Amino acid sequence: MSADSHFSEYENTIYQDAKRYDDEHWWKKDDLEFWREMYRSSPGPEVLELAAGTGRIGLSFLSEGAVYTGIEISPAFCRQARRKLSKFKDRAKIIQGDIRDFQLNKTFDLICIGFNSFLHLLADEDARACLDCVRGHMHAASRFVIDIFIPNPLFLYRPEGMRYPTMEYRDSKTGELIQVEEINDYDPDTGINKIRWFYISEDGSEEVFDFTMRMFWPDTMNRLLIDAGFTIESVWGDYEKTPFDEDSHLHLYVCRLP
Ligand SMILES: C[S@@+](CC[C@H](N)C(=O)[O-])C[C@H]1O[C@@H](n2cnc3c(N)ncnc32)[C@H](O)[C@@H]1O
Repeated sequence: MSADSHFSEYENTIYQDAKRYDDEHWWKKDDLEFWREMYRSSPGPEVLELAAGTGRIGLSFLSEGAVYTGIEISPAFCRQARRKLSKFKDRAKIIQGDIRDFQLNKTFDLICIGFNSFLHLLADEDARACLDCVRGHMHAASRFVIDIFIPNPLFLYRPEGMRYPTMEYRDSKTGELIQVEEINDYDPDTGINKIRWFYISEDGSEEVFDFTMRMFWPDTMNRLLIDAGFTIESVWGDYEKTPFDEDSHLHLYVCRLP
């Protein structure tokens, strides 16, 4: 599927407005040292980030000296990422594309997909297509690292239509404080969670955006990775690399070729 046809699924989502994405995720910094460390232990400088967004994680790799390529489906996010990473000149490249269908004709030392982006692969076929592409861009010493959260039943099975506060942020242009509330609709048969965010301005007016995530339970992830031909080298439950257990909130996989 081409990036453009997939993009129509994203017309009213939180992945349209790059400035707002950066403003609202001001707090998301806890993964950056983890990714820098992943880069330092990588066998070489070539990094490929899938679903690179506006370059949030890319900046960390590049400041460590990486030769960085990011694939991202949202044209607006690609433009923002290119602006943010332009000071790194030839070491930074952003490609508008679909992580389920890419061929870059080279291998990378580190391939990663951070901040729950893997959860946008809504069906097993989407995940498989992505994993096949990843495998084709790895060499014997490459590592593929995935960062997703563990589905939380308290979140999935909230009372229908009940709005929950999610976060607040300051609009970097107007200085206005924006409150974000959410509702969700989880289908346990498909594992798909439809999430609606309400952006509430100081005068009470609202804007609404949607996004959809597939909840991958650990057994499904293990099966998908092994069926796709990866060896799972490590599974951590947090960015401090604590071994994954039943109390973990995150699922961090390090995979290699067999
Ligand atoms: C949670 S954001 C993460 C962005 C960035 N990696 C970060 O950590 O800030 C998920 C990103 O996945 C992108 N995305 C979703 N589906 C995609 C696809 N099929 N191919 C490429 N990018 C995709 C979205 O546009 C969005 O930028």
